[in-house]
Amino acid sequence: MSDNIRWINNSPFSTIYKDIYFSKEYGIEESEYVFLHHNKLKDRFLQLGANARFTIIESGFGTGLNFLCAWKLFDSCVSNGSKLHFISIEKHPLTKEQLHSCLSERSSIHKYYKKFIKSYNADSKTMHYQLSANVSLSVYFMDISEAMQQIRASANAWFLDGFAPANNPEMWTVDFFNWMSVHSHKEATFATFTAARIVRDGLQNAGFSIVKSPGFRYKRDMISGYIKNPRKKTKPWNIPVANNSNKKTATIIGAGLSGISCAYALAQRNWKVTVIEDSSNIATGTSGNLQGVIYAKLSEHNSALNKFLEAGVTHCVNFLDAFGKNLFNKTGVIQTAADEYYFQKQEAIAAKYYEHASLVESQELSVMIGLPLAVSGLYFANCGWVNLGDLCKELSKHKNINIETSSKITHIDQTSAGGWHISDGSKTWEDATVIIAAGNSANTFKQANYLPLKSIRGQITYIAATKQSKKLAKCVCSNGYVTPSAINSMGQEFHSIGATFDLHSTSAIVSTNSHKQNINKLKSYFPAMFEALNGDAMQLLGGRVGFRCTTPDYLPVVGPIVETSRFINKFKKLTTNANAEFNQDMPYLPGLYVSSGHGSRGLISCLLSSELLAKVINNEDCIESQTLINSLNPNRFLIRDVKRRVYSSFV
Ligand SMILES: Cc1cc2nc3c(=O)[nH]c(=O)nc-3n(C[C@H](O)[C@H](O)[C@H](O)COP(=O)(O)OP(=O)(O)OC[C@H]3O[C@@H](n4cnc5c(N)ncnc54)[C@H](O)[C@@H]3O)c2cc1C
Ligand SMILES: C[S@@+](CC[C@H](N)C(=O)[O-])C[C@H]1O[C@@H](n2cnc3c(N)ncnc32)[C@H](O)[C@@H]1O
Repeated sequence: MSDNIRWINNSPFSTIYKDIYFSKEYGIEESEYVFLHHNKLKDRFLQLGANARFTIIESGFGTGLNFLCAWKLFDSCVSNGSKLHFISIEKHPLTKEQLHSCLSERSSIHKYYKKFIKSYNADSKTMHYQLSANVSLSVYFMDISEAMQQIRASANAWFLDGFAPANNPEMWTVDFFNWMSVHSHKEATFATFTAARIVRDGLQNAGFSIVKSPGFRYKRDMISGYIKNPRKKTKPWNIPVANNSNKKTATIIGAGLSGISCAYALAQRNWKVTVIEDSSNIATGTSGNLQGVIYAKLSEHNSALNKFLEAGVTHCVNFLDAFGKNLFNKTGVIQTAADEYYFQKQEAIAAKYYEHASLVESQELSVMIGLPLAVSGLYFANCGWVNLGDLCKELSKHKNINIETSSKITHIDQTSAGGWHISDGSKTWEDATVIIAAGNSANTFKQANYLPLKSIRGQITYIAATKQSKKLAKCVCSNGYVTPSAINSMGQEFHSIGATFDLHSTSAIVSTNSHKQNINKLKSYFPAMFEALNGDAMQLLGGRVGFRCTTPDYLPVVGPIVETSRFINKFKKLTTNANAEFNQDMPYLPGLYVSSGHGSRGLISCLLSSELLAKVINNEDCIESQTLINSLNPNRFLIRDVKRRVYSSFV
């Protein structure tokens, strides 16, 4: 049990900040008086429209008492489907036992405490708890300065509860007050137990209107108020992109995994979505892969790419588990080192990603796989493979999704009303929200022609399974990959061996040379499987060519499209001041978005990207971090080039 808390007069006391969390006798009453009453939550909850969302952000989660009181009030006021999202920040998480001693005997909130304590754990830096159909809690277990970089949400109400400013000045900074101002809903209110000068001045300067009231019981005074003049200046990527359309309809160009999963994510939010596809069917292009492996080549670095891959694997596995329909072959995936460097790093990677992978010695691996493997490898027990085409088909069956095939969109034009006309030359569609999910063709549209996408040919080889090869129980990846057997539409049992990387070829025809490359790679990293397939006498069943769509930093491009020249012009200050701040009136093309550049990892990249994009488009809070969303921003390359002074003359 950590010793950051002790008991003084039966009240929990922080040994770090030398202050009490709340009084033993009056904790609940104080929370209700200061935070609920002064944010006028009862009236505001009662007035929430059907399916409305209300977000509270708190500084200082502590025991969660404020949260439980807010939850109880929400529960007593609301029954029309509206939702409460409570976001809190905590640098020194309490243990379950400590929470238990602080909360378990408070009968008026016991019902809520019981549900909450079951889910509580502070093992990860960000925890998201769906505590009931309408109430969710996200806690950022980190210093407030770090949380400000991560949280992407707008508060309807603020609870400022971070110990007395005199004892804890780090919690009450000008940066935090300004951040609050940028992340306030237009009718946001705040309340705090303190009326310290530093807090009053900070909030006032950040655009809040302030009222002083008597404090709780013997405390002299407290303050509360509302946002009057929201601060507009912020860092380029922290600018939220609101979708201003009231219509919940969207049109998506491209019916690969990216387009279909975007459609599904929006359809789940009650949007009506039309997906337009050039081919005569969905998932005929790159996304028609019969055995897509959930595979992330993680490294030991703390890079944006690794954070995305880790979040992507978690999301993909959870999504497929929940989606069901027997699509997910959760065989487990083994990743063996393709070179000496990676071999040396395996232990560090396994330690860093212990929630996903473990390092397994070759003997044990051979038993798990069913065939001898000479090297150790990382074992991702929760991963496996999925037929990408089948996944797209199942997702597209959602009642809110309408698919139109055999239409190659050639034009996207803004309408005079600010929406979009898209046309294939003979037919036109009109919508306020359009997503370009056209893989490598995304930047053929003039609005998106600044996206640095690169096409890389890849070929997969299908080999007939043998009695011996069918023993393969897990996907095995190295500098290529091989999957356990599956049955194709002709009833043949086969294995997929992948895949080539041809940077220069644009041929869509399956080639013998590419088959040879795949087979030779297999022979070198997994000779037992090569032999099990009858070695050089293996029976070739065919192959498949696809074109990966990649970006210079291997992260996808997901987010709003901008008007390039105005955008470059707006950010030119960055050439002389990399920390410059900008106001929120950004030259985005309203309602136009892209999701592309998913490279070799369609499953983990498309599914997570679609969820993030749907949240952005639907103006939702994101529990995934702002930093993660920023790292996918399609306009990051423009910013990079502005900083490098690539655009010497600005428009
Ligand atoms: C050889 C190979 C092996 C792979 N293996 C794996 C794997 O094991 N695991 C994994 O997760 N990922 C794998 N991938 C990657 C994965 O297949 C892709 O990342 C994913 O399919 C990309 O989906 P997408 O929707 O972005 O693109 P696409 O599937 O290319 O879809 C884009 C769609 O847009 C349509 N379109 C384009 N222009 C227009 C237009 N103007 N109008 C209308 N429609 C248009 C196209 O016809 C196409 O259907 C592999 C890729 C390759 C090439
Ligand atoms: C008064 S307690 C909060 C009580 C809490 N709201 C409740 O309902 O129990 C203040 C909390 O702020 C946390 N805290 C203090 N400084 C912080 C910082 N810089 N970043 C994040 N959390 C911090 C403390 O660890 C403590 O748990």
